[in-house]
Amino acid sequence: MTATRRPGSAPAPRPGILEVAPYVGGESKAAGIDRVIRLASNESALGPSPRAIAAYQARAQEIHRYPDGGSTELRDALARHHGLDAERIVCGSGSDELIALLVRAYVGPGDEVVYSRHGFLMYPIAAMTAGATPIAAPEKNLTTDVDALLAAVTAKTKIIFLANPNNPTGTYTSAEDVARLHAGLPPSVLLIIDAAYAEFVSRNDYDPGVALVDKAENVVMLRTFSKIYALGGMRLGWAYCSPVVADVLNRVRSPFNVNAAAQAAGVAALADVAAVDRAREHNDIWLPWFTRELTGLGLTVNPSVGNFVIVRFPDAASRNADAAFVHLQSRGILTRKMGGYHLPEWLRITIGTEDEMRQVVAVLREFLAT
Ligand SMILES: Cc1ncc(COP(=O)(O)O)c(C=O)c1O
Repeated sequence: MTATRRPGSAPAPRPGILEVAPYVGGESKAAGIDRVIRLASNESALGPSPRAIAAYQARAQEIHRYPDGGSTELRDALARHHGLDAERIVCGSGSDELIALLVRAYVGPGDEVVYSRHGFLMYPIAAMTAGATPIAAPEKNLTTDVDALLAAVTAKTKIIFLANPNNPTGTYTSAEDVARLHAGLPPSVLLIIDAAYAEFVSRNDYDPGVALVDKAENVVMLRTFSKIYALGGMRLGWAYCSPVVADVLNRVRSPFNVNAAAQAAGVAALADVAAVDRAREHNDIWLPWFTRELTGLGLTVNPSVGNFVIVRFPDAASRNADAAFVHLQSRGILTRKMGGYHLPEWLRITIGTEDEMRQVVAVLREFLAT
């Protein structure tokens, strides 16, 4: 073998890896403040079901045992709960893992991965780690534009990612438009519908993607326990897909990719239907309330169907999104900057508890008045 690097230089990763900007998660601390209000990561306002916490704790005596590598009980529970075929479900360590696995399995150097310009950042990151080229399709009114996605498809396209609803914009694509997107794709392109926030949506024209997965081999629906189920720290997500895609995922995932406590907590969380209803009802009250209050302060709030909103601040340096971020942080309120999503004038704010929402509004009123 010919040495291509100077002796003593570090091993080189595959081409493209060093061009990946690492994903920066929401902050969880503010200097000098003990009790922070965390509204930076779209975590659930009400916290997990007590039943999920109990199931997690009950696993403590058994942590010397490997988990069930097939997540069988969890897949069966998901299948019963959603009326699906358990054989078409593959669980992952968060839906992030499933995004990465699908890209690793279907995409290689020279291929293209299409996503929407303000779509979830893990899509371009996953594409680049596979040596592929992420292609961002333009949006209309901060909403996915199906025609632009279709126009971005070339012979090199292997995957299209559609976050529905989308994080961070909060907007969604109707079932009719998703069907139109699918109908316009060649069968060789995998359509991945990432429905991480599906449970929060109550719109007649919305569908998380089950019907499309049932009728087409090239569609995957991704779901997560990190949002309405409030189990982000457990890292638990799942894919519903055709048997051929499930077979591929089961070949590329590591044998024990979902830990035992996460599986147990997931089964218990699914059974606690009342906890999910409470979380949805909470969001149904405080999302519109927060939107109205901020609009009343003269800010622009993008209409959202998720448990978060993006808020546009004025351009003046003393009032802009960066200044608002710093001001909120100084009061212990953590939000998310949107520069990485090409939306530097906006901040993303998660819907928290009633008290948290009232505090954000009060602090922003003060920020805009001074
Ligand atoms: C659209 C979208 N997809 C996927 C994820 C990742 O979720 P998980 O915690 O299941 O990895 C997130 C997390 O914020 C998200 O917003």
